[in-house]
Amino acid sequence: MSISTIYSAAIRGIVGQIVTVEATNAPSPQPRIDIIGLPDAAIKESQGRVRSAARACDLPLKKGVLTVNLAPADIKKEGTVYDLPILLSLLDMPGLDKVDFSECCFLGELSLSGDLRPVSGVLPMAVAARDAGFKFLFVPADNACEASAACGIIVYPVKNAVQLVNHFLCKKRIIPIEFNKDDFFAVADDTLLDFSDVKGQDTAKKALEIAAAGEHNILLIGPPGTGKSMLASRVPYILPTITMEESIETSKIYSIAGLNSELNPLLAHRPFRAPHHTLSTASLIGGGSNPKPGEVSLANNGVLFLDEFPEFDKHNCEVLRQPIEDRNVTITRVNATVNYPSSFMLICAMNPCKCGYYGHPTKPCTCTPQSRRNYLSMISGPILDRIDIQVEVNALDFSELDTFIAAETSEKIRRRVCRARNFAMSRFDGEKLANGMPLTCNARMQPKHVRKFCVIDDGGRKVLQLAYEKLGLSARGYDRILKVARTVADFDESELIKKDHIALAVQLRSLDRKYFNN
Ligand SMILES: Nc1ncnc2c1ncn2[C@@H]1O[C@H](COP(=O)(O)OP(=O)(O)O)[C@@H](O)[C@H]1O
Ligand SMILES: [Mg+2]
Ligand SMILES: [Zn+2]
Repeated sequence: MSISTIYSAAIRGIVGQIVTVEATNAPSPQPRIDIIGLPDAAIKESQGRVRSAARACDLPLKKGVLTVNLAPADIKKEGTVYDLPILLSLLDMPGLDKVDFSECCFLGELSLSGDLRPVSGVLPMAVAARDAGFKFLFVPADNACEASAACGIIVYPVKNAVQLVNHFLCKKRIIPIEFNKDDFFAVADDTLLDFSDVKGQDTAKKALEIAAAGEHNILLIGPPGTGKSMLASRVPYILPTITMEESIETSKIYSIAGLNSELNPLLAHRPFRAPHHTLSTASLIGGGSNPKPGEVSLANNGVLFLDEFPEFDKHNCEVLRQPIEDRNVTITRVNATVNYPSSFMLICAMNPCKCGYYGHPTKPCTCTPQSRRNYLSMISGPILDRIDIQVEVNALDFSELDTFIAAETSEKIRRRVCRARNFAMSRFDGEKLANGMPLTCNARMQPKHVRKFCVIDDGGRKVLQLAYEKLGLSARGYDRILKVARTVADFDESELIKKDHIALAVQLRSLDRKYFNN
């Protein structure tokens, strides 16, 4: 009896782990393959594929009863990733027994004819293999580009089982693929959505710029066709450029979700996710019997846009609270708990009323005051509590639409956003949140931080008092205005919050001013 050991990988949350595939054979007149080590149905099916692929490719398997053990036993192994390492561990070919596989890691699903099919989760598994010290990684050719983004491990694209065997028998070597950092940053610019495409809407643009700088969540309110979706989809490009670290983190989530096609080989821009209001809770926050990351995690390091916000299911709004607060989601199921990051900027959009035209200059609103109130009361309270800025996006005048004057580009706005963020960051040096995470933006200031960092001058205090008394603000509303004013002052690089800063922050609380308190 001989034991052969081949390495592969698995995923827990967004972290990859090394899996050992050990195969033994015992003589028996009845040939059989047994796979042990918590295999799910897919792994059992793997037997069929491995056998068929070996037959189709004329690759001889060891004889007798073959036992394959996937270790460690306590991690749940799912999917079809292990076809390739299992096949390799069972091959009985002269020359192959002398190959040292100890520095190689293998991932990939086999077709019945022995071709390799792409699998999901290759990026986190590639990172794990690299971190565990493996030198070579063999993956399906369609996953190779994505795997190469792990950097620091040599990635071989494999088209079929025969090609792999020939590689190790030195008959024909596979050419490894290399990750080119320049390719990553030089992504086609034609995918960029620019703010200069949006005419007028100066207040909404200013509000989004402020939101981007302080990481404030924001609600856009306006009739259909005024540019709310247009504006929201452009926000990723006024946020600071995504870093390599952030891109890898979010790309891992795409990889696990099986959205490999959107990786090229990594996400080159901050993600923008706009799920429909009818989506299921599992699609929103993640989960399902074979847990997958949800929209909140696909939006990690980017923007989550909830259009037609009042239409979203109450339960979905409830479960959104955890990812918004904690910046990660915990998904629990029978025998495992996984964690996915979910740090996103939330943008919500809605019509001002059921018919959509309340406040429109030409189209009449057909709603009654009661139905308008009902419509607004459909907005989820718990989410509204986490939205610092609410701004109206009104219908454009003809003159605003009929212009050739180019509006500001995203690039120019982004530069201001970065400057304001840097100013805020230098103030927060070393400051911690209750969960021990560093405080990095104004939106996440807790009451003690608001008292420490939001110092108002006399003029500012007068405006704030007036607003408080006239709008009947709550204590929480008061804190929110201060946080937004803090961001406004950061654009001026002013430690002191002044009158104009407060006035603009008050203006960015549309619901307080107009809808709820009149
Ligand atoms: N401010 C604007 N500047 C340029 N085009 C606009 C503007 N607002 C709307 N549009 C045009 O109308 C279309 C619909 O806009 P959209 O952003 O979907 O509106 P909303 O989300 O508010 O209903 C856009 O694709 C664009 O062609
Ligand atoms: Mg829209
Ligand atoms: Zn109406």
